[in-house]
Amino acid sequence: MKTLVVGSGGREHTLVWKIVQSPRVERVFVAPGNAGTAAIAENLNLHPTDIEGLGKAAEKKGIDLAVVGPEAPLAAGIVDYFNSLDIPVFGPTEAAARIEASKGFARNLMEKCGIPCAKGAVFSSYHEARAYIQEQHLPVVIKADGLAAGKGVVIAGSLAEAEKALADIMEARILGAAGDRVVIDEYVNGREVSLIAFTDGKTVSVMVPACDYKKIGDDDQGPNTGGMGSYSPPGFFSAAMTEKVTRDVLLSAVKAMAKEGTPYKGVLYAGLMVTNGEPVVLEFNARFGDPETQVVLPLLKTDLVDIIMAVIEGSLDRVRIEWRSEACVGVVMASGGYPGSYKTGFPIQGIGSVDKDVLVFHAGTKLGNDGNICTDGGRVLTVAGAGKDIAEAREKVYDNIRRISFDGCYYRKDIALREIHSINSIA
Ligand code: AMP
Ligand code: GLY
Repeated sequence: MKTLVVGSGGREHTLVWKIVQSPRVERVFVAPGNAGTAAIAENLNLHPTDIEGLGKAAEKKGIDLAVVGPEAPLAAGIVDYFNSLDIPVFGPTEAAARIEASKGFARNLMEKCGIPCAKGAVFSSYHEARAYIQEQHLPVVIKADGLAAGKGVVIAGSLAEAEKALADIMEARILGAAGDRVVIDEYVNGREVSLIAFTDGKTVSVMVPACDYKKIGDDDQGPNTGGMGSYSPPGFFSAAMTEKVTRDVLLSAVKAMAKEGTPYKGVLYAGLMVTNGEPVVLEFNARFGDPETQVVLPLLKTDLVDIIMAVIEGSLDRVRIEWRSEACVGVVMASGGYPGSYKTGFPIQGIGSVDKDVLVFHAGTKLGNDGNICTDGGRVLTVAGAGKDIAEAREKVYDNIRRISFDGCYYRKDIALREIHSINSIA
């Protein structure tokens, strides 16, 4: 098979790493990819939302499977377009991707079918939204309806902050059309976890749960980022909880999407808060998580291409999906200054010196003119390692991450540490 993976982050390098292991695959192209994908596949210089360009390239290369990483091309209809070209493609249609691309749509769907979510409401009118927030307990969560590359959610601790966020989003339109509607949520306190599933529109098969660290600083200090690290599995998320969320959230959503006339196929990601022992949905994503994928796919034993083809063909119930009963930890190395402004183009040393069983997934990297790998983005690499438990995986990652360096390199020192603390406190 000839496969095309769309995207350029750590998630996509991980997808490519897993896909090239399939005996069914002879060639893999990545658009646009990074220096990591260039080492194991062929990069194509095309932007992920250049849907027509990608379609033309796929026809020219004779692609027989396209896998879409990020949300933007899904929301822009890449799956519908590839379907019209008769190129098998993995991901939800534009209509189905609204579960991520419109938080108002997702909230209405959850309310319709009784999926547990935070109390809240959807507004298209700034004045009505402003009147509503004045009645709410603080903190209050203000979310732009549309895609905002992780910048669309504000947790406001004071009314002034909430009013400013609302005015920025709806009046000053700092996020453009994405902020023409807003969702206002009650703040939910608890432990956050991502449960991501494969679905062919009928069957739902969950991956191992994972936790993501969104803040830039240790102890969750500072601004939000695209994700600074991740681990799987979280000890607080039991098998019974996984089963409950699979049934009451993921399967419920898939059934509701079919009923709406927009059947959902691909990867469905539930972003959850576990509060008082109960899961509450904060958001759905229409794709794999980043950086969760970097710790989830290393635990997948089954051929990913077999799963993907079964999703496309509607036969997921016939695939036995197996997971290693190990733990995996991933730590993101970022450019100094990220998530604010930062410089790029610094050579990266030491990638080749990590242990054989440690994985280095690239995100913002490129090959310099001298053939050296250079930094080319805010998040640069994810270093991931598996072990018999979180402690072993964590030690392996932090032992190896020190061998890699570039000017201004920054990473969190506390990824997965709370798992070790909670195990020690139980013992
Ligand atoms: P979202 O894009 O909806 O996932 O929101 C981004 C982040 O904001 C989530 O990962 C949570 O950490 C936080 N968040 C979103 N909604 C809520 C909520 N209702 N209560 C508390 N935190 C939230
Ligand atoms: N890790 C959060 C996301 O992928 O949206």
